[in-house]
Amino acid sequence: MSSVRKVTEDLYWVGVNDKRLHLFENIHPIPDGVSYNSYLLMDKKRVLFDTVDWSGCREFLKNVEEVLDGKDLDYLVINHMEPDHAASMEEVLLRYPNCKVISNERAFMLMHQFGFHVEDRREEVKEGDTFSFGKHKVTFVAAPMVHWPEAMVTFDTTDGILFSADAFGSFKSLDGKLFADEVNFDRDWIDEARRYFTNIVGKYGPFVQFLLGKAATVPIKMFCPLHGPVWRTDLGYYIDKHDKWSKYIPEEKGVMIVYASMYGNTEAAAQTLASTLCDKGMTNVKVYDISKTHVSYLVADAFKYSHIVLASVTYNLEIYPPMYEFLHHLKTLNFQKRVFGIIENGSWAIKSGTLMRDYIETELKECLVLNAQVSVNSAPDETNEPEFQSLADSLIESIQKQ
Ligand SMILES: Cc1cc2nc3c(=O)[nH]c(=O)nc-3n(C[C@H](O)[C@H](O)[C@H](O)COP(=O)(O)O)c2cc1C
Ligand SMILES: [Fe+2]
Ligand SMILES: [Fe+2]
Repeated sequence: MSSVRKVTEDLYWVGVNDKRLHLFENIHPIPDGVSYNSYLLMDKKRVLFDTVDWSGCREFLKNVEEVLDGKDLDYLVINHMEPDHAASMEEVLLRYPNCKVISNERAFMLMHQFGFHVEDRREEVKEGDTFSFGKHKVTFVAAPMVHWPEAMVTFDTTDGILFSADAFGSFKSLDGKLFADEVNFDRDWIDEARRYFTNIVGKYGPFVQFLLGKAATVPIKMFCPLHGPVWRTDLGYYIDKHDKWSKYIPEEKGVMIVYASMYGNTEAAAQTLASTLCDKGMTNVKVYDISKTHVSYLVADAFKYSHIVLASVTYNLEIYPPMYEFLHHLKTLNFQKRVFGIIENGSWAIKSGTLMRDYIETELKECLVLNAQVSVNSAPDETNEPEFQSLADSLIESIQKQ
């Protein structure tokens, strides 16, 4: 008995689900788990596409063994050398001594660095090389920086299947459902797919664009990514999402308000702005307490919404540290093309507004900060009323212009 699923007549999913890991890359919470996908092609030659994280090795090996059903494994294709996919390769090589490893020069270098001994079993390929496994022919396509420099994707030209490595992946464990059309993706998965993409490969938008450009030139019928479901219908929906994310184009006109507050007064100001916006008819508003929300969720929604309002206390003459961290994450992810609004608070030397404005204007690309701003002295009062009105009006005007 195993958790194997059939992808096509001769292709099998032999991956594993991980519901035990708390933090992906030891940084991003994954409350719904993640899957490490591996695929086994049963052609004249038997070919394994990538492996799984070390934690799932035992179950994965059982899956492989079951599908092979006594036959030998001929090739292991390593599209991506990150250990969440490649860690189990050593075990595969030990168990299948005739198995050769197909990968590229950079990946072989990484294998060496990580201590995987491939030696005379390597079959080095480069961009555009082809390989025949019997009925199935494949082409290797470089996908640098999606998500590491060695990353490549493999296109099965016989069946139109793209083994897309980390591209088109998602957080969440599969729990039996292998295909995106077996779940309500737009309702139950898209938020985690966005959080995966934006935090993991968000920085490399131009490289993703490069890969999307290459992908557009071949007739793809299926995406087999290394995390999350396989796509065999409605590929355009998912391509469109990736196109937007990698161009830093918002999916929705709306306002995310992120507040940093110690005693509730900046929080009250954030809620006042939310009410004012809704009163004026702009109801696509989301409010977050920065101290309670992991930054990966904030990053994901920053990519989703067109407008962002940062509301922060001044903290020892600085931006409140978690707010600073959020801005720093946006910068490191190459985040761009958004309109920001600002609410600041301070009780004796208000600095947070100026500091946040400076950060956005100098560190983030093509981002605009609205002139209208709310400045709170400890607690918002009626003197702030015109500022709230003016910030809400500016946001709505800017949204309507887009
Ligand atoms: C530890 C600490 C440091 C602060 N540092 C400053 C500061 O440097 N300048 C300032 O104007 N206010 C400072 N404040 C006041 C806050 O910016 C803010 O006005 C106050 O906490 C009320 O807002 P809140 O209810 O949203 O927390 C500080 C508050 C705390 C608790
Ligand atoms: Fe990766
Ligand atoms: Fe990965």
